Amino acid sequence: MILYLCLLLLQVWHAVANTEKTIFLGPPSSEIPSQHPTLEDLQLEALSPRQWSLRTHLKAEFPSSDSKYGPASWLLLHGLREGQRYEVRVCWAATQPTSFRLDTYELQTVFETPKLITSLANYAESRQSKDDSLEALEAAAVSELTSSKPGYAGVDSVLLLQIFSAADYYTANKTLMEHVPPVYVDIILDPFLLNVFPRSLVPTAAYLVIIAIGSWYLSKAIARCFTDMNGQKLTDVKKEI
Ligand SMILES: *[C@@H]1O[C@H](CO)[C@@H](O)[C@H](O)[C@H]1NC(C)=O
Repeated sequence: MILYLCLLLLQVWHAVANTEKTIFLGPPSSEIPSQHPTLEDLQLEALSPRQWSLRTHLKAEFPSSDSKYGPASWLLLHGLREGQRYEVRVCWAATQPTSFRLDTYELQTVFETPKLITSLANYAESRQSKDDSLEALEAAAVSELTSSKPGYAGVDSVLLLQIFSAADYYTANKTLMEHVPPVYVDIILDPFLLNVFPRSLVPTAAYLVIIAIGSWYLSKAIARCFTDMNGQKLTDVKKEI
């Protein structure tokens, strides 16, 4: 029965279609740099165990010789716990075929690797120029008032997440071949329970366990029913003789 259950679970895992993920351990807490440019200056979207899901658009392009995996987007993962196993998933619609590649880095690694810091700087810059619209300014003013903006200061366990999005389709529509629309995605940060099992799969697992136990009892009951019937028939036959 355990084997059966595992097989079912695996299937559920794969049935969550169009998902790309990366699994990592929470890094040790470290001092967040407080001189400019700070993490806030980068204005990255952020995920934490409290705010674990984000629905957003990611820029995508066809792979080219200088960006094999498409353009990179960056997110901040914060409030992690050292040694805890996490998974970050990107889920997207089947109607927008895209291939993703996810990597996590510690701040220090990014700051010390020219290729990564350039990628991060480019991404932050492209976001900020895009956000210069009036709407974004208003939104910023509102969020400043309500001060819902998270501050990243002091000591925290943080990682930077880099997501490459490469368009993965062919169509006769020229517009779509020349301008890849941004991909609409859900990005989910999921801690593993006991470092073994993704938290968000627990309801599914519980459901499967109930089904498995239920069907085991049911099959036993049916089997008993058949053996009883057979026994009955035998005695009937004996009586006739
Ligand atoms: C190509 O795709 C775009 C975006 O989906 C759409 O607006 C346009 O009508 C399409 N063109 C043709 C010729 O189908």
